Amino acid sequence: MSEQAVVGVLGAGRAGTAFARVMLRVGIDVDLCSTRPPRALQHHLKIYAPGALAVWPEQVGVRTAQQGSGIVILAVPQEELDEVDPEWLNIPGTESLILVDATNTWHDEELPSWLQAAIDEQLPSSYGIAGRFGRTRVVKALNHISHHDIESFANPDLPLDQRRAVALAGDDADARGHVMSLLAQMGFDPVSLGGLAAGQPIEPGGPLFDRPLRREEILRFAR
Ligand SMILES: NC(=O)c1ccc[n+]([C@@H]2O[C@H](COP(=O)([O-])OP(=O)(O)OC[C@H]3O[C@@H](n4cnc5c(N)ncnc54)[C@H](OP(=O)(O)O)[C@@H]3O)[C@@H](O)[C@H]2O)c1
Repeated sequence: MSEQAVVGVLGAGRAGTAFARVMLRVGIDVDLCSTRPPRALQHHLKIYAPGALAVWPEQVGVRTAQQGSGIVILAVPQEELDEVDPEWLNIPGTESLILVDATNTWHDEELPSWLQAAIDEQLPSSYGIAGRFGRTRVVKALNHISHHDIESFANPDLPLDQRRAVALAGDDADARGHVMSLLAQMGFDPVSLGGLAAGQPIEPGGPLFDRPLRREEILRFAR
């Protein structure tokens, strides 16, 4: 079993279920949660992510912390993030979880005050997420590719240099390494931009947002 054998996903909408389908097809187990109780969510997952396990939010990090590489992907709209309890991602007796921040700021959403404060300071939204989920190691990734492209471009059978490149940014080098290995396993060519501050080009409106990319184009923005 590879180290990324289990990954948790918070949010079972368009993005969360697309991430799950891509991981499931390369043999990664996925624990998913949403606002619905697991029994109701499991019906939804039968259609949108067959093979994924529906769990309560406070369980979403448990299996990955204990048996996987400790990765949870955050795929809940930013306007809903006040309802996501950071304590769900604090699993006693295990190393701090890696939180892949796949969220985006859309200016028609009313944001939680802690997130709006980061944005008002011209910081990338992942700074706000890292402050709020302070017990996790935040890596910004998977936010700049649409749910359609996630599925159609992930291709682990291609050599790295022929795959769609995806960017990531995070302050913790070990966490970045684990996320790069997950993205490669999913079938992308992962490219690090550097620390969280280097993540601005993959935010909405940035030059790397929602475009087919090759490694060299991302590397131009790496710090
Ligand atoms: N759509 C894309 O192509 C795409 C791609 C990359 C990144 N993103 C980003 O990912 C985020 C989610 O986008 P989306 O399009 O997937 O949204 P979406 O389709 O509206 O799905 C949102 C999901 O979040 C869940 N949720 C809401 N509040 C929650 C809470 N308190 N606890 C647990 N789960 C909660 C919802 O639960 P219920 O199902 O129970 O309502 C739903 O499953 C956004 O920030 C977006 O910018 C989107």
